[in-house]
Parts: sequence; structure tokens; C-alpha cells
Amino acid sequence: AIESKVDSVLSLMTLDEKVGQLVQYSASWDVTGPATGGNERKRENLKKGLVGSMLNVTGVKATREAQRLNMEHSRIKIPLLFGYDVIHGYKTMYPVPLGESASWDLDLMERTARAAARESAAAGIGWTFAPMVDVSRDARWGRIMEGAGEDPYLVSKIGVARVKGFQGTDYTNPTSIAACAKHFAGYGFAEAGRDYNTVNIGMNELNNTILPPFKAAADAGALTFMNSFNEIDGLPSTANPYLQRTLLKGAWNWKGLMVSDWGSISEMIPHGYAKDLKEAAYLAIQAGSDMDMEGNAYESSLAALVQEGRVDQELVDDAVRRVLRVKFQLGLFEDPYKYCDEEAEKTELYSKANQALALEAGKKSIVLLKNEGNVLPIQKSVKHIAVIGPLADDKDSPLGNWRAQAEANSAVSVLEGIKNYAGKGVKVTYAKGADLSTGDRSFLKHMTFNEDDTSGFADAVKKAKAADLVILVVGEDAFQSGEGRSQTDVGFAGVQDELIQKVYEANPNVVMVLMNGRPMDISWSAEHLPAIVDSWLLGAQHGNAVAEVLFGNYNPSGKLPVSFPRNVGQEPLYYNQKSTGRPSEIAEVTYSHYIDSRRDALYPFGFGLSYTTFTYSDVTLSADSFQKGGAITASVTVTNTGKVAGEEVVQLYVRDLFASLTRPIKELKGFQKIQLKAGESKTVSFTIDEELLTFYTAKQRWEAEPGDFKLMISGDSSGMPETLFTLKN
Ligand code: IFM
Repeated sequence: AIESKVDSVLSLMTLDEKVGQLVQYSASWDVTGPATGGNERKRENLKKGLVGSMLNVTGVKATREAQRLNMEHSRIKIPLLFGYDVIHGYKTMYPVPLGESASWDLDLMERTARAAARESAAAGIGWTFAPMVDVSRDARWGRIMEGAGEDPYLVSKIGVARVKGFQGTDYTNPTSIAACAKHFAGYGFAEAGRDYNTVNIGMNELNNTILPPFKAAADAGALTFMNSFNEIDGLPSTANPYLQRTLLKGAWNWKGLMVSDWGSISEMIPHGYAKDLKEAAYLAIQAGSDMDMEGNAYESSLAALVQEGRVDQELVDDAVRRVLRVKFQLGLFEDPYKYCDEEAEKTELYSKANQALALEAGKKSIVLLKNEGNVLPIQKSVKHIAVIGPLADDKDSPLGNWRAQAEANSAVSVLEGIKNYAGKGVKVTYAKGADLSTGDRSFLKHMTFNEDDTSGFADAVKKAKAADLVILVVGEDAFQSGEGRSQTDVGFAGVQDELIQKVYEANPNVVMVLMNGRPMDISWSAEHLPAIVDSWLLGAQHGNAVAEVLFGNYNPSGKLPVSFPRNVGQEPLYYNQKSTGRPSEIAEVTYSHYIDSRRDALYPFGFGLSYTTFTYSDVTLSADSFQKGGAITASVTVTNTGKVAGEEVVQLYVRDLFASLTRPIKELKGFQKIQLKAGESKTVSFTIDEELLTFYTAKQRWEAEPGDFKLMISGDSSGMPETLFTLKN
């Protein structure tokens, strides 16, 4: 039924109106008033019905007014769709996506996306530019914080959970908003981790590593995709017909809307791929980019390209159909003001329920990296805690980057959380130790900020000495990760290294609470400090979530979705690497290793401790071989051998021993998060079938190749698959 409605609207449209639907403007003026700053043309075009979508118009008042200008003045009266970067919350912030991915809790991630959708929808927004499903393996890349880490399987599962959360099951529901799988494709593989940089990958890496999460998002019904700024092997993604037409809109049969990234059509000029804006428009529409986000290419050139006969009218019609389809699917034609509900805006935003969810998500995202001598949970005998560090009382950094409409300084700091949870009779003191500027991040300031600030060291040392236990809160502030925040060093900025050492000398009973949007080099601390808690940037309830874990109210269950390096020189670092012809863990000169560092991760993918311990039985197989079309079951019994209840993420890794293309030494193929009481055992089973063993082969198709495989079921990725089984033809 929607298709005939789309066709009937399309048949009423002029060429200019069609091109208008492919134009997306950012609100660079206050849309509730007259246009300022040269935006008169944009406002006039809104009134003429020559705009399909706007981004960065937020709140019921503003979206209602922009919609009114369009609906009341335009001839064609096609509702606008308002887009916004709702990446980890709208007003209530949940953990940054990478941090939340450490929960490995798909239901939780669906629920936070749903809650973010509810808040956004209540504030006029019908489209989020999330989830980012770029597999990201380079800690230097600032946008690693926006994704779900280094593994295609985990990124796929999490991407699907988030798509479902944003969109709900009934798109016409006033709380459902369109999701956007981005950035199609390869953006996470920027050379040297430098944002927007060149990507050089082949068909194997593209199909086997980068594309699976996008395919999963498309299959899950993601209504929109965004293409990426980068080129792949000389071809900007925006102009890549293989990605957008052959695969996505062809083989995958996806009917959604492809939006460009901000100016990515016009950026083909500096890429050296299009000689001018008109050529850029030509290349993008041919390749399957439907909507031009702030690129001014379609607006300025597309109609002329059609009139000159260079661009087939049918290409434009197909793109417009995709825009109209999404608007129909969301129910905007029935009610263009569907997201304009002042009452919902008052009750939904920053509600108690959303705060409770932020706390739940926060504590489930925390990863316990080290706990020597069971320093944690904090013992009853601890009567004096010193909370130290530049981020300890930071109420802003937990909100992270891409914080949408979060109120600055509104998060619960770690210091506040500890004070909230420390029992009566426990003294809590605080010293900042050193300053970590969150101010101007222009290039030079960023490189030099506060390198000399040791003025607070004496106070920190004095307070550390006087305490039974030190909670040292260090790491990255909110804006050290995110778009354009690439770094050549992933260690501690400023004088934090010196602070950590001085505090440790004063009192070795230190628990480090790391705040971070990326995996960091924490090698010195990992060697010396007894306990390390990775708290990422957890959003609104950061400090309370950390305190729940530190005091043992919640037993940590997070597992790393990315490998932590020993030093930045290992990057990109990921567990599912290839063997090479000369594999070696040890320093044999002509084998694949470093002479100045171990080659493995400091903390591997999938790793995370608990306040209890788990043991795994040997794997049992229902049979050691199966025919194509058949299946076997692999099982282990996991036992909680400690004294408290806990959760464990049981992970299945498979290795394809010989194949038509070299395969990773292990690949995550399944996981289950289970709860076990103290002493309890559970048997966990995984089905191994042909589908699980498929990959994009040398024949350039997806299939499982018969042969020998090995598998491993464990609590992290550090071991090697050993249990042999065979797939027969
Ligand atoms: O959604 C983002 C994208 O990820 C990066 N460029 C800008 C877009 C809109 O804000």
C-alpha cells in the first residue's frame, strides 16, 4: 500500500520538488525566527517545499515551526523529516556506545536505544544518525567511542539491537524514530587512525570484516544508511556504485534511504575525484547516494543534470521514492506533527525511568581489569577513602562526546557517587591532583595543555597517605574521543602519569578508575596498581554506577569489546588477526613480532574480571563432523567457583584451518551472558552449522568451505581454538 502512495505523490511532483526532497539542510539559524546570517535562501526554500529534511533542529517549538513553514507555504506539502545525532541519548545520556558494548547485553542496548528514541521523538526528532556500525580496531581513531568495537560479529549483534531499539516494531508509533546504519563503508579503517583518512583494503577485508554489520542492519530493517567520508582504494564511498547499488540496493534488496555524510558529496572535489560540484552531484547520484547532507551539490546541479540528459530521471525518482517511503513508513504523511507533543516533551525528557536505566546501563558497562588481592569490592575495614584525580569530580566528562541535548556538568561524578554509597563512618576526602583542561581543543593547545601543572600534587600525596584506600580517577575527558579526535598517543594526557606514580608511592593501595572513550595504554598502571576498573564515559549516572561496583552492590560483568594495547605502536590491534606465514609470540628474529614489545594485547578482546571466579569444563561435541545442511552442538559447563553470584559472558570462537583465502586465527561466532549463583554450574550450548562457517570466499561469494575447523569456548579471546571438527561436503 505504501508503494502506491509513494508513486502517487511522486507523480504530482515537479523536477525541482523532487530534487528538493534530496536536500538536507542543517539549521544554521534559529528556525523559530527570521533567517539570519545568509540563511534567507534556506528559509525560502523550506517555504517552497524544496527541502526534504533538516538536521540539528531540536525541540518541539523549533521542529513545529520549521514543519509549519513547509506545510503551510509549499505547493506540494510533503512533511519534513528532522534528523539529529542521537548517539547515546538525547537529554539523558547513557554510556558512550563503545562503553555500553562492554555489557554484551543486547536487551539492555535495545532498551537504551528505545529510551533515547522516546526522548528524541518527544522533542521533535524522527531520525537518528545512529547506530555507527563501523568495525573499529584502531585506538588512535577518536570515533572508536561511537561504535561497538573490533569484532564484526559483536558489532553486528549490537547494531541490530540498537536499530530495533530506535525503530521499535511499529514505525508509526510516536516513539519510533528511523535509525541510520553508518558509515557505509570502511570509515573505521582510516590509515594510521587519522579521521577521514584514506582506506586501503581489498575485497576480502571489505566483505568479511567491514560489511557484515551493515548487512545485519539492513536485514533488521534499518530505514536509512549514511555513507562515509573516506575513499576505499581510490574511490570515495559516496561515489561507490558497488557498495550502494550492486550490494546494498541490489543483492541485499534494501529499500531504504541513503544519506550522504555532511558534505561528503562536495568533498569529492578536495578528494580529487570530482572536478566541480556538478560532477560531484553526477557521481553521487549515479552511485546511489540519495540525499545530500549540507553539500549543496544536488540543490545546485541535479535538476540541470537531468535536463541535460546526463542523469536519468529514473535515478532521481528512485532516490525520491526512498525519501517518501521513509516518511510514509514513519506515518509523517498522516501527521506531519507526529513528533510535536509538548506534553511528552515535558514528561519524557530526563525522566526518573531514564535515569534508572542510565544507572543500570552504567554499571553493566564497567569492566574490571585487575583486582589483585581482592582489593575490590571495598572492604568494611576501609574507613578512610581518598578520591583523587583530575576527573574525580568531573561532572561533565561522563556525558561524553556526541552528547546531543545533555545539560553540561549534569552527570554524577565519581566523587559524588562514592559519597552517595560510602557507609556512615567512612571518611571521604578529595584532591584533584592536576588539572585536565576541557577547554579549547585547538591543535596546539591540545598537544601542550597543562603539561606543567603539578601544583596539586602535594595535596594529592598528603591525602593519599592519610587514607586507607585511594580511588584514582584518571583518563580522558569528554572531548578527547569522538569525531576529529584522533591521537598519535593513547596514553594519559598532561601530567597524569606523574600523578599516578606519586600517588602510588604515597599509598600503594590504589584502585584506578579509568575514564575513556577509547582503549588506552595503561601499561605502567597495569603492572603496578593492584586494581583497575574501566569505567568508560558512562553518561548521566556515571559516579553512582562506579560506586555500585566499587562497593560490591553490583558484581562487574563487562567484557572488553576492543583490545587494550601495551603501547600505541601495536595499533591497529585486534584479536581476530591473521596467522601470517611466520607466526610467533616470542622474539625469534625473523618471525612476526616486535623486538621492543610483546605483540599480544595488554587486555584482550572479551576480557573482564568478576568478584567471583568461573571455571570452564572441556568442550564436548555432539559429533565431530557434519554434512553441509546439518549441524552439531558444542557444549561446556561453566561453574561459579567463588563466593558470590555473578554473570559471565560465555564466548564461542572458531578457526577455519585452511581455506581459499587466509582466515583469522579465531573469530567470535556466538556468546551467551549467563548468571550463576555461588557454586552453581550451567551447561551452555552453541549450535555449529553451515551458516556459522560461511565467509566471502575466493570465489567472491558467501559459502562454507568443507574442511577442518577448531573451536574454543571461553571467557575471553586469549586462548587458541583446540577442539577439532570437520565440515563435510
Ligand atoms: O552523523 C554525523 C556523522 O557521523 C559525521 N558527520 C556529521 C553527521 C551529522 O551530524
